Amino acid sequence: MSIKTIEWRGDRVIMIDQRRLPLEERYIECDDYLSVAEAIKAMVIRGAPAIGVAAAMGIALGGQRIKSRNFSGFFQQLEEICEIMKQTRPTAVNLFWAIERMKRLCWNNQKANIDTLKELLRKEALKIFEEDEQINRQIGINGRELIKDSDTILTHCNAGALATAGYGTALGVIRAAYEQGKTIEVYADETRPFLQGARLTTWELMKIGIPVTLITDSMAAYFMKKGKINLVVVGADRIAGNGDLANKIGTYGVAVLAQHHRLPFYVAAPSSTLDLSLVSGEEIPIEERGSEEVTQLFGQQIAPDGVRVRNPAFDVTPGQYITAIITEKGVARPPYNKSLRELLGRRE
Ligand code: MRU
Repeated sequence: MSIKTIEWRGDRVIMIDQRRLPLEERYIECDDYLSVAEAIKAMVIRGAPAIGVAAAMGIALGGQRIKSRNFSGFFQQLEEICEIMKQTRPTAVNLFWAIERMKRLCWNNQKANIDTLKELLRKEALKIFEEDEQINRQIGINGRELIKDSDTILTHCNAGALATAGYGTALGVIRAAYEQGKTIEVYADETRPFLQGARLTTWELMKIGIPVTLITDSMAAYFMKKGKINLVVVGADRIAGNGDLANKIGTYGVAVLAQHHRLPFYVAAPSSTLDLSLVSGEEIPIEERGSEEVTQLFGQQIAPDGVRVRNPAFDVTPGQYITAIITEKGVARPPYNKSLRELLGRRE
């Protein structure tokens, strides 16, 4: 079973429109970088690794259209494209990681002729795409031993194939355990307000054949107390040097609940989600989205006209609540200040 989140076809970027899932499997085609940026902003594509891949493809697409025939003119325009990509969403560091990688590739090839440079950019975007799925499979291999036969796993938001180039991070760990032949079950939080859990995680897991039960976010405590949940696995949008992590709003609450009920709380993410330049999660920029995501359900107003609304799209879970962080490079455990640096092969 493979879900195609994003694809480079000809000189176009094709994405499944995640706003319409699971009711409709519709694809949108972007033929310039501005429409890719718009798609990221509008959540046609979402999930930290997936928006990194989309930004890289958008930059490659933009690069193909640059008219300048000398390096400095070309690089200046590429930088302008990168700036627009950076403005799409602030929290997931994978976006900025991918943009920097594309820019660096260009900068390191100043001697190449412009057509070669365009081809190099296209190839780099495809490399980021291909690497992402391989990384996720490795995360799955590294994390699957943390799941036992007959476990029921709670997950929040969608950290599956749809949030990546393929296979998924948190769902990748769950899939890898399932592919080992373990009998497992998943409880998926619906994940208000954008409903990534209800709409996307359940859809993916049902396609794969992993038993899934949909619950509302407020039911997690009830099922933990009842002993229905054995562990939690979630993805991440950015992980600071001390292990604090930004992930979909509601993740922090789930982590506190897990600790209260003495359940392991695991995070699965590629190393491109680590932002060791940040000392703690306090420094992670948190996106605030439009009030209509809270006041409306599928275009239907559910709250009084003019009500004041807050809509932070992410929260920060302190590292102290995280049992382990599963990456493609290995599994980090507290103290994260030390273990995350060791994973990346860095010294203090
Ligand atoms: O707002 P979204 O849907 O982009 O948020 C997605 C999440 O919070 C995911 O859990 C995270 O990006 C990890 S995806 C592998």
